[in-house]
Amino acid sequence: MSASKPVRRITIADIARMYEEGERFATITAYDFPTARIVDEAGIPLILVGDSLGMVMLGYDTTVRVNIDEMLHHTRAVARGAKRALVVGDMPFLTYGVSTEESVEHAGRFLSEAYAQAVKIEGGVRSAKTMEAIVGSGIPVMGHIGLTPQGVNQLGGHRVQGKTRDSARKLIADALAVQEAGAFAVVLELVPAELAQAITERLSIPTVGIGSGPHTSAEIQVVTDVVGLTQGFVPRHARQFWAVGEALSRAVHAYRDAVTTGDFPAEAESSSMEASVLEEVLGRSELDRAESPMSIPLDRDL
Ligand code: KIV
Repeated sequence: MSASKPVRRITIADIARMYEEGERFATITAYDFPTARIVDEAGIPLILVGDSLGMVMLGYDTTVRVNIDEMLHHTRAVARGAKRALVVGDMPFLTYGVSTEESVEHAGRFLSEAYAQAVKIEGGVRSAKTMEAIVGSGIPVMGHIGLTPQGVNQLGGHRVQGKTRDSARKLIADALAVQEAGAFAVVLELVPAELAQAITERLSIPTVGIGSGPHTSAEIQVVTDVVGLTQGFVPRHARQFWAVGEALSRAVHAYRDAVTTGDFPAEAESSSMEASVLEEVLGRSELDRAESPMSIPLDRDL
């Protein structure tokens, strides 16, 4: 009898080892059980349940509208689907940074109620104290700097960050603050490739780029963007590797047509019962002349 080897969950120590060995890795978002399973089986070591959920799955116009219950619900589904990958839950707008106690408590819910192994927080210098407190309470944190979508109202839109001398210096300070606060990795979103490279060279934790060129330690993308399922705007930095939305649409059209033409369900998709049993059920058999104890209409009564 061959017992299958139990799957071991990737930890932040594994991520650190991959980084130290110079292994560049792909990470991706997921929001549901089947996608998490597929991503996990593809060997991706880290899955982010991003608050991009709000825009690509829930139809909101901004990530600011996502609440913690929605995030916990989807994180739980991903954690059930991913047996091996490190699952990171994205802390939604204003669930951190208002008070340290509440930030730690909310971060803890991702681990205790949604079975994530880490959380992600936006902001560099401004979030460093919060990060430090969360890490200090035993919860691994991934930072997120550059374009931080929860701050889009302050940043004035989804645009590349750090193109001027001052904003680039601020980004380097942000990256160092995140590292100093104890984060195990930091997302660099929409940062010029040269600056992302300079930040990567200055840090001793992995940088995870999105729209930040090829010189980061790892890459992250929104799953619906790269599989071709996003409805509406897809950022320029996302390459579409498949047309899943189109495949889904074709399948739904084919299903609709098969039902309306009577082609589906066919015998192979149905089950049957003994004809004699049906005869009895309907009160047609010789044996079934007695009064029916139930008041259902039998053929003989019709
Ligand atoms: O919410 C998200 O999906 C993210 C990634 C884009 C990094 O924050």
